[in-house]
Amino acid sequence: MSDAKPTILKIGGSVITDKNGELAARTEVINRLAEETQKANLKNLIIVHGGGSFGHPTAQKYGIKEGLKDNAQKVGFAETHHVMTVLNGLVMDALVWHNIPAFSVAPSCCVVTENGRIKLVEDAVLKMLLKMGFVPVLYGDAVLDEKLGFTVLSGDQLVSYLARKFSADKIVIGVDTDGLYDADPKLAKNPKLYAHLTLSELGKIRKKLGGSTAADVTGGMLGKMAELVPAVEQGIPVAMVNAAKPNRVYKALMGEAVEGTVIEKE
Ligand code: IPE
Repeated sequence: MSDAKPTILKIGGSVITDKNGELAARTEVINRLAEETQKANLKNLIIVHGGGSFGHPTAQKYGIKEGLKDNAQKVGFAETHHVMTVLNGLVMDALVWHNIPAFSVAPSCCVVTENGRIKLVEDAVLKMLLKMGFVPVLYGDAVLDEKLGFTVLSGDQLVSYLARKFSADKIVIGVDTDGLYDADPKLAKNPKLYAHLTLSELGKIRKKLGGSTAADVTGGMLGKMAELVPAVEQGIPVAMVNAAKPNRVYKALMGEAVEGTVIEKE
């Protein structure tokens, strides 16, 4: 049994899938990340992964984020959740075969939103899993919404909520860039990487950051940062590292110095 503060690891959908494809998982990357997680061997860990080319194209096709307007969308809601469970299955495969006591928790079965914001969370199972030393694994999902009927809940909103709810000691965000830049690293010539940012510095540069290029129904890098601010305000540091490069997630989990961007309250 453990009451220590958990670390929250978010793995972006653009890391574990090819965002330009459709239902294109990067199984070798998923395996390496499972290996790094096993090596870190944290006693208290929650993992959240994104949707990438599983959740986003399906959600976009049926307008799931905007809510229920037409009965024909219902199969799209079902399909969006389903493809997320397929991607989650691949992640679970890698984690469990690496001897991690990972346990999948579907957000759509324990979270209800209101206008896209988390309203209600049935967290009894999550609490017990953590206490017993399991590693709960959640993901961005198609969820029911009190006002919209349904919507898309981003993994980032979930991470921010869980970090505050369980007073996390830190959040590690694995993305497909080296961290936060002063310009879009996929478009700009000489973007500068921010190694450390306070909340007030982040506020100043937020308007300069671009959105993601491929289909992303939950707001790209800007949305990601905005979601994390309330957790940082509560004193929970965020380390953003390149999960596509070996060992960066491992080092961030261990609290070791690593290339990336650390965001702290002050
Ligand atoms: C999106 O989750 C989930 C769905 C579209 C159903 P995220 O917003 O956390 O996914 P990524 O990390 O941006 O791919």
